[in-house]
Formats: sequence, C-alpha cells, structure tokens
Amino acid sequence: MVTNRRNFLKGVAACGLAASVSRSQSTAADSSAHIEILPEEPIGVIAPEIYGHFIEHLGGVIYDGVWVGAASKIPNDGGIRRAVIDALKAIHAPVVRWPGGCFADSYNWRDGVGSATDRKERTNFWGGVEPNSFGTQEFLRFCALTGAKPYLAANVRGLPAWDFQQWVEYCNAPAGSTTGAKERAAQGHPEPYDVRYWGVGNESWGCGGNFTPEEYATEFRRFTAWVPQYGGQHLDLVVSGPSDYDVDWTRRVLRSLAEKNQIDNAYGLSLHDYTWNLSAGLTTDWNLGKRDALKFDELEWYELLAQGALMDSIIRDQWAVMAESDRRHHIKLVVDEWGAWYRPGTEIGPKYALSQMLTLRDALLSGITLDIFHQHADKVAMANAAQLINCLHSLMLASEDHFVLTPVYHVFQMYMAHMGARSVRTEFAAPPASYDRRGQPGALWGLKGSASISGKKVTLTVVNPHTSRALEAEVVVRGAAVESGTGQVLTNADLHAHNDFQHPDVVHPEPAAVTVARGRLLHRFPPASVTALHLTLA
Ligand code: AHR
Repeated sequence: MVTNRRNFLKGVAACGLAASVSRSQSTAADSSAHIEILPEEPIGVIAPEIYGHFIEHLGGVIYDGVWVGAASKIPNDGGIRRAVIDALKAIHAPVVRWPGGCFADSYNWRDGVGSATDRKERTNFWGGVEPNSFGTQEFLRFCALTGAKPYLAANVRGLPAWDFQQWVEYCNAPAGSTTGAKERAAQGHPEPYDVRYWGVGNESWGCGGNFTPEEYATEFRRFTAWVPQYGGQHLDLVVSGPSDYDVDWTRRVLRSLAEKNQIDNAYGLSLHDYTWNLSAGLTTDWNLGKRDALKFDELEWYELLAQGALMDSIIRDQWAVMAESDRRHHIKLVVDEWGAWYRPGTEIGPKYALSQMLTLRDALLSGITLDIFHQHADKVAMANAAQLINCLHSLMLASEDHFVLTPVYHVFQMYMAHMGARSVRTEFAAPPASYDRRGQPGALWGLKGSASISGKKVTLTVVNPHTSRALEAEVVVRGAAVESGTGQVLTNADLHAHNDFQHPDVVHPEPAAVTVARGRLLHRFPPASVTALHLTLA
C-alpha cells in the first residue's frame, strides 16, 4: 500500500500549476479555441486493454459487488451479479485484473478452488475473514461471461515460484494432460482457460514484500526463469513496478533484469498512480492530507484535476528511465491501478471499506486520464481503473439489491470508440482555466483531449475543466474534410453531482449537436464537461 506521494510537489511544479497566470472571472464569456487533429502524425494503436478493470478481495468489491452467490435473490449468473456482467459487456470490457492489489501477496490460489467444502477460511489482508467462495474458477467464469481477458497477480511475498507454476498449469495445461488439468476438469472446466496476462507480485516495494529493487528483480527472475507454456501459447509477464514518480525503483529493477538478459522475459512494467488531491489540503501528508469525495470547493476541483493530469509527466519520466536498460522499449507500461482516492466518509456502508462516491469531477478525471493514455498509445499497453465496483475509482456501486452506474462508467462508455483505433497527435489551443490557489495564481489548461482514427471515422474526446466557462472551438482535421458528426456530452450544473442508489441517473451523457460547415466544425464545450465527438471524413 502506498504510504506517501514522493515528489508530488516537484510534479505539480513541473506541470506548470504554479505558473504566473492571472485569475479568470467566473462570469467570463465564451472564448475562442482551436483544435487541430493531425492524421499524418500517428502515435500508435490504442490497446483496447487501456480500458481495463481491477477487482480485489477488499471491502465490498468481490462479496456483494461482483459475487452475490447462486442462492441469492439478486439476479445472478451462477453467483455473479447479472447487472455487473451486463454493464461490462455494454462497454466491451477488455481485461480484468484479480485478486489484488495487496491481497494478491497474501493469497494462496489453492484456498479458492474446488467444491464449497474445499474452500478455506483465511484472514484477509484488508481485515475480516476471507471465505474464498470466489476463487479462480469463479473469476475465470466471470471473465468468460463478460468477454474480458483475465489478468492474474501471483503471490511473490508469501509463496514460492512452484505455486505460481502450478497455478499456470491449473489454468492453462491442455485437457487431461496433467494433474492440474485434471483438477480443473473435475471442477467443471476440462478445456484450458488460456490465461495470458500474469503479474509477478504487486507493489513489491511495499505490501508485496518490502523488497529492495534488486531483491525484487531476483524474485522476478526466479519466478519467470521457467513458467509452463502450452502449444506455443505466449505468456505476458508483468513486472511489479513503481508508484507514480518513483523512477529509482524502475531504474534499479530493470537494470538488474538487464544484467541477466531478462528484459525480453517481461511484457510490461506495472505502474500505480492514485490521485489524492493532497495539495489542496493543509498538508501533503498522505494520511492527513486527502480530501473529501463530495464536499469540495473550486480550489479542490482544480487541484484534483491538475494532479490527475500529472499522469502525463509520470508516463514520460518512467518511459525515459525504462530506456536506460531497455533501449528498444520491449517492455511497455501497464498502469494497473489508477484513479481518485479520497478520505474516508462517503462509503456506501460500514462493510464497504475504501468505497467512495464518484462525482462529475471524477468523470473529468477519467476523461483526462484516458486521453493521456491515448497520447501515449506507443507506451501504455494496459491500464486498470482501481477498482471496478464498491471501491475507489469505481464504475459501479452495489449493495444487496441496489445497483448504480457512476459518472466514471459513463466516460468509459463515451470513449469506447477509441479502443483499437490509431491515436494521432492533436493540438489544443485555448485560454487556460485560471483559479485562486490560496492567494497564488493557479492555472490548468483550457481544453485537452485526444483523437483517434479508424478508416474514415475520427473520435475526438475533450475535457473542459473550467467550472463556469464554456469554450467555443473550431475543430479541424488537417488534410481532410469532416462530412458529418455526432456527439455526446457529460456535464451537470452542480460540480458535486453524482449518482447514488436513490438518484441513479443524475449524471448521464446527453446527445450533443454537431454542426459541420465547410469540412470543419464549430463546437461549444460546456463548462465542467467531458465530450465525445464521432466524426466521419469525406
Ligand atoms: O486499490 C487499493 C490498494 O492500493 C491495492 O491493494 C494496492 O495495490 C494499492 O496500494
């Protein structure tokens, strides 16, 4: 678990937050802005896996979130909440990470396979008793039902490499071939699951073992020197990576892998970056400084979004250091935990630890983050919002027979067309959003987003962070004419707007009219909004 945010202030300064920009008036009229999409400057194909998810045995994420049990009166498919399955299918969820998080390094996969009487009751990392009713079989069935690929995290702190190999064998060995395959068949699944993504530990610098980078690199090599692979199947192994700006971890782990020529054995480097909004508090202390999910002022609105925008420099910094040991950039970034993390107080109930309300502000944070991933489509191979349900940056909340989609979910839905499309460089020119930073001038960019192209279809997603100023922008595709377009916008007059069980539809996307003239469009981006424009080229 993260205990501080190293170099946070350094990052804030690097982002230009403290730049000397005069404060705007809240009554400011629309200003002109310009967006230019550059099809001739491709960045890379947006891996659909950037739209990935994460579920952990923590609070109400698994139990009462994903898993209600087959005997429940809540609609379910063999124990898995039907509403979660349907919601994930609707957004084409590409991948789900499980079982943690910090829980992963306390988990023995054998405790969670077999019949109900075979399941072990264990002490859960996050407190309470882990019944292990939801184990490998249930998770992999959940993935099959939703269409998502599984991404399993192995226990490096508590189990030997042998258990990792046995888990891979249990999941992937051909039908009837080994004891693991026969166990799997006895539990109702003769055919292999073909699990491709495997994380080797989680936050190994902290809850995953308090390793030094060199110690962890030794473990990674031990765990991956040989892993069973069947029928030419390739496994994508993910190195337990840094938190936000911790390039020292990255440098030393990759250097240790390179010394033993093991760079090519890794597919990805995990990166965790939560947005805490520390600078809006009176202290930058991680525990004391976090702010409230629902009660926030304009300063906290801007500072949270500005901190979220640091994802861009974090990716750049980590990528530059990765090149020191991996010049060809064989290893890509896997941002397998990201999202807002607020102070306790807005949980949906006492047993739902780390659950929090997600507002319009979190929708903008989601848009900003996904747009940054698109801008780095050449570097980011996967990302997993933390966590899917009843947790931090959740897309859904559920408690018994109550279920609601959060504003974060709607952004994932609005951005879907980017998956698998070619990200292209896009220029945004707009007056900045200026604000009062406790007597100091603060400024965030005025409009930002990303664009991708697939054939004649262009998807442009844009965030306007200003709390009260709409921006009118001319949108141009260089070298091409726009023929037609449709749009969706997510906004609300109340910055704190959110969906809860009693009011499930306060924040939802609305159609946005798109006016095309002479091959370009003039579009009004409302204040505090996320917009998705779907354009067709002539
Ligand atoms: O997502 C909650 C926790 O945050 C995860 O278990 C851990 O990896 C991170 O510190």
